[in-house]
Amino acid sequence: MINQLDFTDKSYVLYHGESTTILPTIPDNSMNCIITDPPYAGAKRDYGYWSESEWLSMMEIIFFEGRRVLTSSGSMLFIVQPNMDKVGKMRLWVWEFLLWASKQWNLVQDLYWWNYCTLPSEMAMPKHGLMRGSLKYLLWFGNSNCYRNQENILNIPSDRQIADSQNSKLTSTRRGSPSGTSKNYKKMSTAFQKRGGVTPSNVWPITNGNSTDSAGSNNHGAGTPYQLCERLISYLCPDNGIVLDCFAGSGTIGQATIHQGKKYVGIEKFNEYIPMCEKRLEQAYQDSLLPLFYQKERQVIDYRVENKQESLF
Ligand SMILES: C[S@@+](CC[C@H](N)C(=O)[O-])C[C@H]1O[C@@H](n2cnc3c(N)ncnc32)[C@H](O)[C@@H]1O
Repeated sequence: MINQLDFTDKSYVLYHGESTTILPTIPDNSMNCIITDPPYAGAKRDYGYWSESEWLSMMEIIFFEGRRVLTSSGSMLFIVQPNMDKVGKMRLWVWEFLLWASKQWNLVQDLYWWNYCTLPSEMAMPKHGLMRGSLKYLLWFGNSNCYRNQENILNIPSDRQIADSQNSKLTSTRRGSPSGTSKNYKKMSTAFQKRGGVTPSNVWPITNGNSTDSAGSNNHGAGTPYQLCERLISYLCPDNGIVLDCFAGSGTIGQATIHQGKKYVGIEKFNEYIPMCEKRLEQAYQDSLLPLFYQKERQVIDYRVENKQESLF
């Protein structure tokens, strides 16, 4: 029998094992959000290969168990990118999952990460004539009124908004837009001053740039950019909340969660990534300069041995 953990007294927990096995041991209503970057169907990686049907079967379990462990205001977000079967023929697993999951629960909004610095792949070579696939889908499921905080992810105002807000002669308050509607520009251009930024759009341009502490420089070839993780956590996880990551990899989502003083529960199955992930989580914990009263126990749990819970601390 696997013990259920009480996560309230932990800063982070890293499970070493399969998320399809570990998720069922996590108590109901215990996580504030799920933010995770799963492996992709049809792509060969060090950590495995999933056919489209194998991937969809795995994600069914993650989806139902994920929904069970979320609090009533919680939501789950999966970072995925469509890929091709062969040049000029897309695989459909992303849209199949999107449609299936949206019917099981609710698609809150379509949201995208635009990795505008993507290097051209084989498919985009001039001889094939296709384009760089640079848009990742952030598949976001939850109740329509699930928790999110737009104030934490405001965009920088445009030059025009700044100029308008400084123009004391701007007497005409309504102005036509190219779509034919008219908007109160004076009001819109000054609102950002009170809010500290402007309403974000649903396409987030974030590069997957290298840095000395990126997942790639830690030898994880499919890492999630820190900036994307930071923004998603700020948006979807309330203060003092818990983020669950079913595919922890090198722990970038964990790092960003701990830096924000929130709690992290990660699950990773691949032996080789565990030490790297653990090191990055511990470093984030040491760097976060949390007040002492906030510093809680950390735990790495090895679940690979069937039904045996072995604490590595
Ligand atoms: C795209 S990577 C995650 C990257 C991670 N966000 C980071 O920044 O390093 C997907 C990870 O899921 C892990 N994985 C695949 N299937 C799994 C499963 N069933 N349970 C737990 N981890 C799994 C892989 O080993 C891989 O590290």
